[in-house]
Amino acid sequence: MKYKGIILAGGYGKRLSPLTRSISKHLLPIYDKPMIYYSLSTLMLAGLREILIISSPRDQSLYKVLLGNGESFGINIKYAIQERPDGIVQSFLIGEKFLKGYSSVVILGDNLFHGQNFIKQLEESMSNNNGATVMVYPVSDPQNYGIIEFDECYNIKSLYEKPKSFKSQYAITGLYFYDETVIDKAHKVTPSNRGELEITDLNKLYLMENKLNAKIISRGFAWLDTGSIDSLHDATSYVRTLERRQGLKIGCPEEIAWRKGWIDDKQLESLAIDLLDSGYGEYLLKLLNRIN
Ligand code: DAU
Repeated sequence: MKYKGIILAGGYGKRLSPLTRSISKHLLPIYDKPMIYYSLSTLMLAGLREILIISSPRDQSLYKVLLGNGESFGINIKYAIQERPDGIVQSFLIGEKFLKGYSSVVILGDNLFHGQNFIKQLEESMSNNNGATVMVYPVSDPQNYGIIEFDECYNIKSLYEKPKSFKSQYAITGLYFYDETVIDKAHKVTPSNRGELEITDLNKLYLMENKLNAKIISRGFAWLDTGSIDSLHDATSYVRTLERRQGLKIGCPEEIAWRKGWIDDKQLESLAIDLLDSGYGEYLLKLLNRIN
């Protein structure tokens, strides 16, 4: 199975207003780097080098300034516009040409994943994917997410988008793996009561075919959704705490590209030199002398 990646980085970010009045939330900082670095890093950790970034018309040029064509990270980034945030499923309609003939990994640009064995989980999700695979995670506020309900044998019973009454504590994270049939299915999804093409409705189409798989992320692993003021702050604290303690960066695309052999020592060094003033560059330079 061949995969391409999509980052959905559109929307108005209203829950972060006025921070987002003039800029996309995905360009706001999570500690020492822009939010989009974390979702980009996740796709890179999955081994994906063909990536489409979907954004609002207002912000596209800023993403291009930040990431360019991806060459400096050893990847190929394409850009597309979502005129209005009419739902996550629109990413397949917008990315139809880009995805033709490929399976896809889609990540919401405000999701941050971090924890042990993540690369293995990503690789397993891709190689075992027979239809669609979602990653699920127990949360204390399930009413704010897409939710999955299991029977006692952990077979998937049903899915709900932001249910008002309690159904299950398992939230569906913003990281989705789909086979090539996703485009046809995306065309079948119709707007919900709130006027959005809901990812949960797309996943229900896979469930009806008995082709929806759920991978439960174990406790001890961090999945942070960074779309509100408090969750943005929490994510910054989380990254700051771990990075300062371990001296290792979380969500650092330059490092991932180098470790994967997509850029060489010389390229990493030249990226580092541009970033020396903030200390980010110093970190990259240190990698060149480090064994692990
Ligand atoms: O974070 C996981 C949750 O994301 C899932 O559990 C839900 O099933 C899913 O609907 C979604 O819920 P949210 O309420 O968090 O979605 P939100 O509208 O905040 O958008 C999530 C990200 O996707 C955010 O980075 C903005 C981007 N987005 C969203 C929509 C609806 C777009 O770029 N375009 C869109 O049209």
